[in-house]
Amino acid sequence: MMNPAELVKIARLAQQQAYAPYSNFRVGAALLTADGQIYTGANIENASYGLTMCAERIAVFRAVMAGEKQMQSIAVAGSGTGVTFPCGACLQVLVEFAPHITIIVANEIDEIQEYSLNELLPQGFALPKTSREQITASRHHDPSRRGK
Ligand code: THU
Repeated sequence: MMNPAELVKIARLAQQQAYAPYSNFRVGAALLTADGQIYTGANIENASYGLTMCAERIAVFRAVMAGEKQMQSIAVAGSGTGVTFPCGACLQVLVEFAPHITIIVANEIDEIQEYSLNELLPQGFALPKTSREQITASRHHDPSRRGK
């Protein structure tokens, strides 16, 4: 089975796919599912800066598109001396699809720290239950499973 250091190594490989000519800050992510599947992401920037997509969301959305429901952990590998934490937008996306995910962050010498999503975003946004019940039954990801 995959340990956190191994997942960080895969995030490092994904980091090489970053397209970051504007910030020069390259990020890689590797998301591990309960059954051992891995989905990677890297940041992809745009000349229209606000269109930039983070490494983490690319990894999560790839997993969602593959039908994954049990997302166990996500490793994030950035540049520079400090660790790179997922941004607030990515944390909110994780709340939607992977409320119990473990977030593994690493610095440039791959020293590792682990956090729960709840530690990094304790009060993520969720719709009130009445609104959630109106969401169509065809939806694959059931938000009512949040927090369970
Ligand atoms: N970025 C990520 O991909 N993930 C993070 O966790 C933080 C920020 C990217 C977005 C942008 O391309 C660059 O890093 C600088 O903000």
